[in-house]
Amino acid sequence: MCGIVGYIGEQKAAPILLKGLQRLEYRGYDSAGIAVHDSVQINLVKCKGKVSNLQKRLEETPLVGNIGIGHTRWATHGPPNDENAHPHATANNEMVIIHNGIIENFDTLKKGLIQRGHTFQSDTDTEVLIHLVDDIKRNEEDITLFEAVRKALNEVVGAYAIVVMSRENPNQLIAAKKGSPLVIGIGKQEGEYFIASDATPIIEHTKNVVYLEDEEIAIVDRESGLQLRNIKNQEKTPYIQELKMQLEALEKGGYEHFMLKEIYEQPRSVRDSMRGRLNVNKGIVALGGIREYEQKLIQAKRIIIVACGTSWHAGLVGEYLFEDLARIPVEVEYASEFRYRNPIIAEDDVVIAISQSGETADTLAAIEMAKQRGATIIGICNVIGSTIPRTTHAGSYTHAGPEIGVASTKAFTAQVTVLTLMALSVAQGKGTIPHSRFQRLLIELDAVPEKIEKVLQLDDQIQYIADYYKNATNALYLGRGINFPVALEGALKLKEISYIHAEGYPAAEMKHGPIALIDENMPVVVIATQGASYDKIVSNVQEVKARKGKVIAVVTQGDEQVKALADHTIEIPEVDEVLMGLISVIPLQLLSYHVAVMRGCNVDQPRNLAKSVTVE
Ligand code: AGP
Repeated sequence: MCGIVGYIGEQKAAPILLKGLQRLEYRGYDSAGIAVHDSVQINLVKCKGKVSNLQKRLEETPLVGNIGIGHTRWATHGPPNDENAHPHATANNEMVIIHNGIIENFDTLKKGLIQRGHTFQSDTDTEVLIHLVDDIKRNEEDITLFEAVRKALNEVVGAYAIVVMSRENPNQLIAAKKGSPLVIGIGKQEGEYFIASDATPIIEHTKNVVYLEDEEIAIVDRESGLQLRNIKNQEKTPYIQELKMQLEALEKGGYEHFMLKEIYEQPRSVRDSMRGRLNVNKGIVALGGIREYEQKLIQAKRIIIVACGTSWHAGLVGEYLFEDLARIPVEVEYASEFRYRNPIIAEDDVVIAISQSGETADTLAAIEMAKQRGATIIGICNVIGSTIPRTTHAGSYTHAGPEIGVASTKAFTAQVTVLTLMALSVAQGKGTIPHSRFQRLLIELDAVPEKIEKVLQLDDQIQYIADYYKNATNALYLGRGINFPVALEGALKLKEISYIHAEGYPAAEMKHGPIALIDENMPVVVIATQGASYDKIVSNVQEVKARKGKVIAVVTQGDEQVKALADHTIEIPEVDEVLMGLISVIPLQLLSYHVAVMRGCNVDQPRNLAKSVTVE
């Protein structure tokens, strides 16, 4: 959700904050703002719209000073407008705050504050929090800023990552976190610190970071350095970690959009997800991060996969893999539903939580619930050091590298790669897979990056097809078996970036309802690759054509039958059916990308969305 950035040191704060907000814009882009302390007073510039709008405003009204905070917003309370943009301030900019998260009891707190004479300029919950700090300060003489923030946070119900700056303290920022991520970078100069919602704005300045834990408060002071306490006022020791991320990974590298770059990175990202884990010559699959828990998986009576969005689609592919290869029953749950049901969870259940960001609020809550009920939790995450990997018993990183485009692409294929390795490893441990099949799948998996490469070479052809369908208002995506979750993923990609209404269905379900929608204006993307249900899907294509629907078919190279029926075909390389999801999703990503670009949509920052959904 929202992006947070803070700076304190000897350099000019505003350019650092602005650059940081540009890096964090994928987290939210409704509005943006910056506040800088000029050592006498705090000055503030904020406005509706993208960080580029803020940049223009800052050119007109430059902010001077070496300490400041900045924010890019994804609206929760109140519409995106100048008033609701962060930072929020008390009278005369005495104190300012930026916040990511939701203060659930803001209404009750606000009523009390209004009774005590506070007035508000915005609809946000964040403004309530800074008034609460102010209220505490007014009522307790000589109270420090840290102590006032700490006391305020004790009254708050909800999630927050905040940074507070006060006119009285020109050398200090107070940062705190609960439920929403916050990281502090330790600068190269003494007394220099960077604060951010994730490491992306920090990496160009320093590799040494401290990730705050829930309910920790950092006092970041130019003179006395970094101190950590918790909201009970107990002292904590900062644990400094070294970032492994490379700066180039955060740049577009010559591509027009991050999404396109990330689609094209997949031969590399899939290879990186397998690196050190797959040894074809020795016939070994080993995921170091789950070694100690592998027996739990082998003996699991059931696997429950929890995730949201694209990660949930990867989970559905995982269901096929674990059932087919390791013969373990699998349930795939939307984390947001699972957490609010009263699910039956046994101690011999293994819960696999999948998340690109490692910060998704619903997935985190599902993990907590399953943990409390005694299940073993394994994470599959992309962002190193994020909350989910720190909350699970064990896990495997996907190593896809930073994914900046809001539409998930390389994260999906990396998740499916890790799930495939996991299922193969468990299948081998359980003895549910014949050696010859195991060995053949290792060889085929190892060759997947080259096959993705081949699909990427079809880009021009896919662009041509996109041009043909760019004005569609609806689309259906059909698949069977492992290609059904791929159909769901294809539909999600199209709707989220092009705003065309699209639905994914298991192909056979079409005749139970969606077939009523088919006419000559309805494009139907059918994933009709070779496999056990090929003949069935040929029939589904015939059913669509009989109703004059337009068929775009993704088929295996050399296919004749579907090609003869479809309006457009995309031929992809042959691969074992259980690995097909890794290949068949690629043309669907490209198709959505080109349609969205042709429609003039902002593919990297689609409307209403944010990369990391840290509120429920
Ligand atoms: C996918 O394109 C979306 N951006 C979204 O569905 C995403 O996959 C979902 O919000 C889950 O995020 P996570 O993987 O970071 O947990």
